[in-house]
Amino acid sequence: MSDEIQYTDINKSYEAAIERSKKLEEDLIKNPKKYRVLTGDRPTGRLHIGHYFGSLQNRVRLAKLGVPTMILIADYQVLTDHDAFDKISQNTKQLVIDYLAAGIDVEKQDVIIYPHSYVPEANQLMIPFLTLVSNAELSRNPTVKEEILSAGLTNVNAGMYTYPVHQAVDILFCKGNVVPAGKDQLPHIEMTRTIANRFNKKFCTDVGKESVFPLPEVLLSKTPMIMGLDGSQKMSKSRNNTIMLCATEDETAKVIKKAKTDQERFITYDPVNRPEVANLLTLISLCTGESPEKIAERIGDGGGGMLKNTLTEALNENLRPLRTKRAQLEKEPEYIRKVLTDGAAKAREIAQKTLEEVRERMNMVI
Ligand code: TRP
Repeated sequence: MSDEIQYTDINKSYEAAIERSKKLEEDLIKNPKKYRVLTGDRPTGRLHIGHYFGSLQNRVRLAKLGVPTMILIADYQVLTDHDAFDKISQNTKQLVIDYLAAGIDVEKQDVIIYPHSYVPEANQLMIPFLTLVSNAELSRNPTVKEEILSAGLTNVNAGMYTYPVHQAVDILFCKGNVVPAGKDQLPHIEMTRTIANRFNKKFCTDVGKESVFPLPEVLLSKTPMIMGLDGSQKMSKSRNNTIMLCATEDETAKVIKKAKTDQERFITYDPVNRPEVANLLTLISLCTGESPEKIAERIGDGGGGMLKNTLTEALNENLRPLRTKRAQLEKEPEYIRKVLTDGAAKAREIAQKTLEEVRERMNMVI
């Protein structure tokens, strides 16, 4: 393939991505209806506060702004890196509960929630899309490489290499043009743009034919990466360093008590030299809106104990409405199921239109 995907060095291209993202953010506020947000999670379990502050709050904000939003649950993708599949259905429903509890409202907002395995017409796009990328491009994807490495996989299934193409399907079937995401998703969006571009070039060159697919852009998260309570790595369930949204107030206090801090008693905000303390201060700041420096100043020689108490209180207070709603939704499994089946039906309608369009462009209508 001539114009090979040049995965930009994530760190080098990051500044530029931040700039583009800022412009996009300004325009989203002015023209919400010009966009369609596409975002999603793998159903690997319930969500924790890293998801909440890192992405969920932002989704709620965009939905409230009136941006049409599709939230997909990547139940097929989960098969690429998880052997266990016995809980996919439960996990899918738990994700819906977390979304709704956080303020997503499929009745009042223009939001569709669905599992991507339930949209066959979208999944059909996978076959033509696979012909638009090379094996070399798939195996060079830096995020995929990193995931293989960190999971220590020795026998990598083909789904692992091709899931970024499926992610392009997720984004393009509904002509999504904004993908709120972190740095690690940049290579996938680059691949999505490449697939869209190659499709448009190959199949839409006839006179008078418009492009089928938009070139989506990333909306980078403004929240700093939330570290786990061990303070050394990203918060993640597999690392056992999380605070779950569904935790009780007592459970929250308990895990925070065990959080790692350091030897120094006097609390200061110093992300470079005191990452564990800085992370706890950042979390308080996300709850109260006060700057981490100010919070540190106030705690001062109150030490680690006071730091942890402050976080426990701030977090429990911040999450109280969400948790109340969460408990209520747990008692409404039929409603949760309906959100998903209604969402899937709406997503299919969109997918059917796109598939028709794509078939016509590829000269396959019989
Ligand atoms: N790849 C994402 C993850 O690992 C999940 C995902 C699948 C996704 N399809 C998507 C995210 C489309 C954004 C857009 O978490």
